[in-house]
Amino acid sequence: MLERPAISSNLTSRNGSPLRPAFSSTASSFKPDSASLGDDVHPIINEGRVAVITGAASGIGRAAALELAKLKLKIAIADVDEARLQQVGKDVAAIVGDANVLVVPTDVSKLDQVVHLKEKVYELWGEVAVLMNNAGIGLKGTSWDGINNWKTIFDVNLFGILNVQQTFVPFMLHQENQGMIINTGSKQGITNPPGNAAYNASKAAVKSLTESLAHELRERPNSNVTAHLFIPGWTYTNLTGALTQAEKPAGAWTAEETVLYMLDKVRAGDFYVLVPDNETRRELDELRIMWAAGDIAEGRPALSRWHKDYKALFEDCSRAFPSAFFFWQRPLSHFFVCRYVFLNCSKQAKD
Ligand SMILES: NC(=O)c1ccc[n+]([C@@H]2O[C@H](COP(=O)([O-])OP(=O)(O)OC[C@H]3O[C@@H](n4cnc5c(N)ncnc54)[C@H](O)[C@@H]3O)[C@@H](O)[C@H]2O)c1
Repeated sequence: MLERPAISSNLTSRNGSPLRPAFSSTASSFKPDSASLGDDVHPIINEGRVAVITGAASGIGRAAALELAKLKLKIAIADVDEARLQQVGKDVAAIVGDANVLVVPTDVSKLDQVVHLKEKVYELWGEVAVLMNNAGIGLKGTSWDGINNWKTIFDVNLFGILNVQQTFVPFMLHQENQGMIINTGSKQGITNPPGNAAYNASKAAVKSLTESLAHELRERPNSNVTAHLFIPGWTYTNLTGALTQAEKPAGAWTAEETVLYMLDKVRAGDFYVLVPDNETRRELDELRIMWAAGDIAEGRPALSRWHKDYKALFEDCSRAFPSAFFFWQRPLSHFFVCRYVFLNCSKQAKD
């Protein structure tokens, strides 16, 4: 699939909202259960509207391109890996037709290439409904080693998103129709597990950036663009070993499952899209997130979950925690249960 020539220079969209029922996919083992994928018409994720996806040549980005194509959106895909991207373009075209696919090889860390991507999309379709900032790499950098990897990973994981945001958002703000920006973060940017300080820091920055974006967008009068922080669980992709490991580990979700879950939640309007996997339930993620925040609030050492004096305590708490899920359906009770567990754990630590 080649880039298409410009057919118009309409840079501010006035395209009408397509008011047709949304498509519901059952291609993967994750079955969205919220009402959001029912018969309602979603103003953004809907037939005829435009999705732009970076990092679309493989994994989660590829799955997003395919799922959004099944929902009959027009799909623009961008990636630095041109050969794989062209193949994904063919796969997407098989679903939605050649005329509804735009393939633009793009290195998101290069602002001029991102500007080129934006120009192609607006020339061809005049709007963006879904902007999915998904390109990411996992080079390793520890706290006092690997400075070049640090720079590269920030150039892609953080500045790649910033390049796309700063290039597309001013145009999206002038569209009449609603739009959404989905930035792909990571649980590692929230709980900061030891192992890859550079990746964690880049994804922590993505969380911070996306929270600021959400606030800045909603403070605008008559704002019609929303932001969403997509936090995948363990997903079987090239980034997590699919190139070398032929079979999906049982604990991981497929990229399709992760994307279908994400689509379900952004359609429902969630900002934080915290995705589970077969190994980590949402409750455990919540405990880990609250434990990390508790390090500050309770005055524990940094990353106490992995500290020799606290590790066992965290594990005790996570074992004790599920038994308290009698209250799970009630968020306020849930908060007090968590608080009770934390206080008990902290008390045990001091005793
Ligand atoms: N797989 C997981 O378990 C997991 C968990 C949490 C977060 N994530 C995040 O999900 C996103 C997608 O990752 P994935 O797991 O699908 O991995 P993946 O390696 O399959 O996909 C990442 C894609 O980004 C592309 N890319 C890399 N650098 C680029 C650049 N400079 N410009 C444009 N494209 C570039 C790659 O070529 C690749 O196609 C990443 O941001 C990753 O950090 C993944």
